[in-house]
Amino acid sequence: MKKELVELKINGRRHELAIEPSKLLLDVLRQDLDLTGSKRGCDDSSCGACTVLVDGVPMMSCTLLAASCEGQEVTTVEGVAEHGALAAIQRAYGDWGGAQCGYCTPGFMMTVKALLAANPDPTEDEIRYALSGNLCRCTGYSQMYEAVRAAIQAEQKGREQGVGSRNPS
Ligand code: FES
Ligand code: FES
Repeated sequence: MKKELVELKINGRRHELAIEPSKLLLDVLRQDLDLTGSKRGCDDSSCGACTVLVDGVPMMSCTLLAASCEGQEVTTVEGVAEHGALAAIQRAYGDWGGAQCGYCTPGFMMTVKALLAANPDPTEDEIRYALSGNLCRCTGYSQMYEAVRAAIQAEQKGREQGVGSRNPS
């Protein structure tokens, strides 16, 4: 199939790529850009291992045409670190043993990032609903939920400290 030039913005960097119009975002990330954090677990939008953020919204990159993302901001797990430091969810996964084989971990992290950006203080039900599209074959869900709760607390503490340092009293 004839290739076309597509400009994608991934993790803050612009990439001009010659790709087939039918190429999936997951394949462009993994094959053309060597961003192999996003995983292929099913290929039919049922496992969430390929989740990336497109303009902040979690999307399954295994069923998303790369060309359709032109002009949008794509964030992968490689872009989750904040100012060179691990994001709260990455630290919490390490602290709580949230990853077993780790295959599902990038997808979970992207979903959690989107959840906390939209709702910094989610209820247990809201967390479970948000993560319901991400599956873990190792089934270590309890550690993952502990990690998510720890990340929420860490982000809340960070915000309180940020507010405190701006308003010393
Ligand atoms: S690989 Fe995309 S949802 Fe499973
Ligand atoms: S940690 Fe192995 S699939 Fe989730």
